[in-house]
Amino acid sequence: YPPVLAPKEDFLACLVKEIPPRLLYAKSSPAYPTVLSATIRNSRWSSPQNVKPLYIVTPTNVSHIQSAVVCGRRHGVRIRVRSGGHDYEGLSYRSERAESFAVVDLNMMRAVSVDANARTAWVESGAQIGELYYAISKASPSLAFPAGVCPSIGVGGHFSGGGFGMLLRKFGIAAENVLDAKLVDANGKLHDRKSMGEDHFWAIRGGGGESFGIVVGWEVKLLPVPPVVTVFKVSKTLKDGAIDIVNKWQTVAPALPGDLMIRILAMAQQATFEGMYLGTCNNLLPLITSKFPELGFNRGQCNEMPWAQTIPFIHLGNRDLGDLTNRNNNFKPFAEYKSDYVYQPIPKNVWEQIFGWLTKPGAGIMIMDPYGATISATPETATPFPHRKGVLFNIQYVNYWFAEGAGAAPLQWSKDMYKFMEPYVSKNPRQAYANYRDIDLGRNEVVNDVSTYSSGKVWGEKYFKGNFQRLAMIKGKVDPEDYFRNEQSIPPLLTKY
Ligand code: FDA
Repeated sequence: YPPVLAPKEDFLACLVKEIPPRLLYAKSSPAYPTVLSATIRNSRWSSPQNVKPLYIVTPTNVSHIQSAVVCGRRHGVRIRVRSGGHDYEGLSYRSERAESFAVVDLNMMRAVSVDANARTAWVESGAQIGELYYAISKASPSLAFPAGVCPSIGVGGHFSGGGFGMLLRKFGIAAENVLDAKLVDANGKLHDRKSMGEDHFWAIRGGGGESFGIVVGWEVKLLPVPPVVTVFKVSKTLKDGAIDIVNKWQTVAPALPGDLMIRILAMAQQATFEGMYLGTCNNLLPLITSKFPELGFNRGQCNEMPWAQTIPFIHLGNRDLGDLTNRNNNFKPFAEYKSDYVYQPIPKNVWEQIFGWLTKPGAGIMIMDPYGATISATPETATPFPHRKGVLFNIQYVNYWFAEGAGAAPLQWSKDMYKFMEPYVSKNPRQAYANYRDIDLGRNEVVNDVSTYSSGKVWGEKYFKGNFQRLAMIKGKVDPEDYFRNEQSIPPLLTKY
């Protein structure tokens, strides 16, 4: 392909030969703002100063995606792909650089088909994970899939970056339960696992979205769960002894059997322990009483239900399966996120300081997911997701505000809190979870129209540790010209560094 630079109108002319015009939106189209903002989840990236796509393409079949890539390569227009739009930094639909790009938005490609007998499902990338959960629940009450907690997350980005939720201790991350995939590569060719090859297939299961092509759909393994599971939410204030309980939790929770997951949401003066047990209350009670008596857990706190209902229960406090397929999630705060991994227990006096931080002006919340069991037993190189053996828990720092211009205090808090935590979390590198994208960890530099390996290494080893180099070498094979890129895409490495 020539290195660009025909007029962008030629790109559109190329597209309209292959794709019905009703599926194409130019900046001048009346519907463009609505289509663009439909899945923007972080309102920080809605403002006019963001660099927006020239065009939005909303394919309804694979050939449209292939045409978008072929036309883009021919006419020098890059493509960013959006599935659920939950990217924390908005990189699926905005650019930090003045770059000509189109968005391929997969929201119309969201078919799900479940084969309960074979315990597999095919799900298209534009589905939200709740739609997958819903389809599984209709096929069988005893099958589940281990992915995120929030039902509106898009399958495409979520599986690409790992994907975990309340089943992470039992079944690991979403990406390691992918069996096959359909992908359009940087030349517009369609592949399955066999034709893309094992290296490429390894990379798309956790190596981060955008870098390796457009994943159209995924075949996943469904996992057995009992027809009734137990969930609970137990809140403890500082007066109830929250600090002692959290202090105990950090070593107990990662050592519990894989059937039990207890995570923490810490906010202001309170820690809420959210748990899921793959079994009945009768079996949970003796387990939790013997292993974690400090929680003071009792039968009245048990909520028994089929697994699919636990998703709305944990997310919204109801059991309405309709929430799983609701695509009109209007919760669109301004938001800032960071993440950490903890390998050594945090001293009790530091927990006291942490709860002090949670009451400062602009304070956010901390979500802490314990690891151990399956997620930690899987080798670091099995998938690009490297946060395995020895991890006690993952921390996500989440900060919301609700008006443009109200971000100064929350942003400052996030920065200061992250600095404060440095001595107590992973080091060399300080690890972060790729799906909790944080642009402050680093941005690619582009030299001679290619993202440089050295600039990618800065943020890349935080997300992928030693797997980063392998990802860059695979990128060097499948997209050496760096067509699919964003500020944190894997740079191509053509020779070993
Ligand atoms: P989006 O469409 O924005 O894509 C994200 C990235 O993947 C972009 O770089 C994009 O270009 C690329 N991409 C998207 N589709 C692709 C495709 N088909 N092929 C190739 N690349 C593609 N995570 C988690 O593990 N557990 C959780 O419980 C939660 N909870 C949660 C709640 C909320 C409210 C938010 C906003 C986010 C989370 N997340 C999460 C993080 C989430 O997993 C992460 O943001 C995913 O990348 C989102 O995927 P989407 O498809 O929605 O995003």
